[in-house]
Amino acid sequence: MPNTQDNLHAAFAGESQANRKYLAFAKKAEEENQPAIAKVFRAAAEGETVHATNHLRTLGGIKNTTDNLASAIAGETYEVETMYPEFLAEAQKEDEKGAQISFGNAMKVEGIHQKMFQKALDKLSAGEEILEVEYYICPVCGYPAVAHAPEKCPICNTPGDKFYKI
Ligand code: FE2
Ligand code: FE2
Ligand code: FE2
Repeated sequence: MPNTQDNLHAAFAGESQANRKYLAFAKKAEEENQPAIAKVFRAAAEGETVHATNHLRTLGGIKNTTDNLASAIAGETYEVETMYPEFLAEAQKEDEKGAQISFGNAMKVEGIHQKMFQKALDKLSAGEEILEVEYYICPVCGYPAVAHAPEKCPICNTPGDKFYKI
């Protein structure tokens, strides 16, 4: 029987998924020229973010930035060293081409996330100044380019003019 800690973990995962799913559905509704329905999805998505954040906070999963960076590094390391290599191997065994691309692209970007977080943690620990930079994100694989979009995504070859600034 799962205890409350288990349930908080499950609820955090479920609410986080609902948030991203509803945002994807909202985008689709906009593409289908249904702005009112898109708004319904976006309103619900915002509520799911509130729920997810409440569950994570209740779990004690939001700490100071040094600890949060360490948590992020651990998560990215697990994904890049264990989870995605296993998922990719299974997708290759099953000849699931779409999953191979989806897992493969994500794995490469997680490696970059891991290094970004590690660099930030090293600088924070050393008391060095951390300069704020602009990021341009590949809409296909999530690759984060620094300062400006590249001509083509180095991971998935998407043209740079499709990147969006965050
Ligand atoms: Fe919810
Ligand atoms: Fe990541
Ligand atoms: Fe990309």
